Amino acid sequence: MAEKIKVLLSEEEVDERIRELGEQISKDYEGKEIHMVCVLKGGTFFMCELAKRITVPVSLDFMSVSSYGSGTESSGIIKIVKDLDEPLEGKDVIVVEDIIDSGRTLSHLLKLLGERKPSSLRLCTLLDKPDRRVVDVDIDYTGFAIPDEFIVGYGLDYAQKYRNLPYIGIVEFE
Ligand code: IMP
Ligand code: MG
Repeated sequence: MAEKIKVLLSEEEVDERIRELGEQISKDYEGKEIHMVCVLKGGTFFMCELAKRITVPVSLDFMSVSSYGSGTESSGIIKIVKDLDEPLEGKDVIVVEDIIDSGRTLSHLLKLLGERKPSSLRLCTLLDKPDRRVVDVDIDYTGFAIPDEFIVGYGLDYAQKYRNLPYIGIVEFE
């Protein structure tokens, strides 16, 4: 292995923050139902933990949009690899992402999902790298703003590895 992983956010810190987000979202959506759209694959770990902390009714759907190869830089090329199973019309939708980096993926995705006429559309991301933004994206809920480092764990991968780490780590290339 040519890389080392340094802990940035411990399992306890991440769990605590997700609990807070769950409380906030439950309060904001009181009396409503939430339709969560998870962006595969990175968003899955976060979405499961977040959904467990939400006290209003939740339904789930999954979508896969690719903008990255196996390296660490956005290609700028975005395609739908897997579309949603359910229509969004009339639903209160929250898109759940692992990380917003350049913002290219999410700005494209939000535009596309907005055209499907949800009654509301919000974005929740576990991690935000504001220094890397190329395209503006409105984020409604953020777990952590983090520095410009390459991150793995809690769903995030480096060449498909490390998604299963229960904490968030920085990849140190040697
Ligand atoms: P964006 O279009 O540049 O915002 O890229 C968003 C996607 O790139 C995320 O959903 C991740 O899949 C991937 N990505 C961006 N930064 C990282 C990182 O630090 N580690 C792992 N994947 C990342
Ligand atoms: Mg992703």
